[in-house]
Amino acid sequence: MKTLYLKSNDKNSIQTAADILKNGGLVAIPTETVYGLAANALDGEAVKNIFTAKGRPQDNPLIVHVASLEEIEPLVEKVDPRVYALAEKYWPGPLTVIMKKSSLIPDEVSAGLDTVAIRMPSHECAREIIEKSGLPLAAPSANASGKPSPTKASHVIEDLDGKIDAVVDGGECSVGVESTVVTLATEPPTLLRPGGITPEQLEDVLGAIQISPAVFEKLREGEKAESPGMKYKHYAPAAQVTIIKGSFEQYKKFLLAQKSTVCAVCFEGEGKIFEKYIEYGKENDDISQAHRIFDALREVDAIGCDRAFVRCPISSGVGLAVYNRLLRSAAFRVIDLEISIPVIGLTGQTGSGKTTIGKALAEKGCHIVDTDILARKAVENPEVIGMLSARFGNDIIKDGVLDRRELARRAFATPEGTAALSAITHPEITRLAIEEIHAAEKSGAKAAVVDAALLFDSPLVAICDKNISVVADEKIRLERIMKRDSISETDALLRINAQPPTEYYIEKADIIINNNPDSDFETQLEGLI
Ligand code: TXA
Ligand code: MG
Repeated sequence: MKTLYLKSNDKNSIQTAADILKNGGLVAIPTETVYGLAANALDGEAVKNIFTAKGRPQDNPLIVHVASLEEIEPLVEKVDPRVYALAEKYWPGPLTVIMKKSSLIPDEVSAGLDTVAIRMPSHECAREIIEKSGLPLAAPSANASGKPSPTKASHVIEDLDGKIDAVVDGGECSVGVESTVVTLATEPPTLLRPGGITPEQLEDVLGAIQISPAVFEKLREGEKAESPGMKYKHYAPAAQVTIIKGSFEQYKKFLLAQKSTVCAVCFEGEGKIFEKYIEYGKENDDISQAHRIFDALREVDAIGCDRAFVRCPISSGVGLAVYNRLLRSAAFRVIDLEISIPVIGLTGQTGSGKTTIGKALAEKGCHIVDTDILARKAVENPEVIGMLSARFGNDIIKDGVLDRRELARRAFATPEGTAALSAITHPEITRLAIEEIHAAEKSGAKAAVVDAALLFDSPLVAICDKNISVVADEKIRLERIMKRDSISETDALLRINAQPPTEYYIEKADIIINNNPDSDFETQLEGLI
């Protein structure tokens, strides 16, 4: 079908949109939060088409939009008196309230639940279309399911052109994140989705409310969602998104240490030092961050990057909604660079005895992060397995488990393969290492020691306060690895020569530990801790 493009300020647009809706069609309309894909809420067949156009899971119910309080009564079993109190303060506006539904609401709207979500938008154009059509309008956000919600008509066209009857262009949405969803069906009321109306604003009217755990956490396997929409992967660009907590200085250092180009999603004025960046709002300004976030997430794909690192928004006020949407677009992947214990990098050539030094540091109360173990753990992550099989072939998965030997055979066959393997696994190893450091911090470790053979080639170097290189004479290293791994001198030399020379380790380190048999490393470590 051809999608009609209408401008909200053209004389006939409102009438045209209302007519389409009365005839059972689909029209994307601007609201103050995000664009909605509207249909007659009382017409089950019309509502079905919303699900088809968006590719939306059938069990995710829709919000019904009205223009006045009188319209609500027939849609619900009974209007809870608290709805009037909420309406007085926040309607029309970015608030959705869930109530027991009446039989007028088709199952397509409520997705089989016995409740219905109601909202009265404040956007002039949305209100006029509701009034002109004389209908309550069921409208989810007008994006393809899973994509960031649309805050401009162009976003709607990007996702739904040819699949809906019309789009009404009313400019940019002012709030930028979807409405707050609260249910009065629980005692106390539960915030199901944070949005333009803050938890504090709700409590002003309702007294204490509870916040659904789904706002901050991934649902566990088999757990029932109070708000079905919260269980799906959402708001996600094609690129992998990671939220980065910490100061701008820490963020900058961490991003610049990445081995492949990542897209920096940061605050106004911060971007220009990065190769690829998108800015979303001002630091410490939740309103401006909310306004920009979805457009920024869409720009990530336009800019062409596999990974995006997003500066963490403030998570209070409307910022709670921004943080909640980002958590979902990041599939809950958060890296916290704010570490309160010293982090020491530990590296050295094979046979230098860095493991021995690590053990000595562990005895002094340091936690050792073994990146070899993390490398094995990284390839257990389903997302990593997905990327590996996309790159190296689906048949590296046998009976649901990764065949590590086969992966190694394919990856190490060429330099490109080796680089691709690192590009896929290193970000996850980094994330796991930082997670382990936080666990060590909690359990009272004095310091964390990151033991990594290729530390200086890893983004982990960015989180280390000081780096130690362990060095030993080549003859000693040769003897050690021949004995340790029972290999010939030729093979041992091959391994030694595959690594950078000693000077490289000396040049890059802050601290050098000499670990020849006659040099007492204990004394050298003494002053360190
Ligand atoms: O700002 C908004 O709310 C936008 C604009 C267009 O009004 N609409 C919107 O709709 O965001 P949608 O469908 O993308 O999100 C509706 C959310 C979903 O998470 C859904 O699961 C939840 O509200 N919801 C709807 N009816 C519900 C019900 N009866 N019980 C629990 N959750 C419900
Ligand atoms: Mg939505």
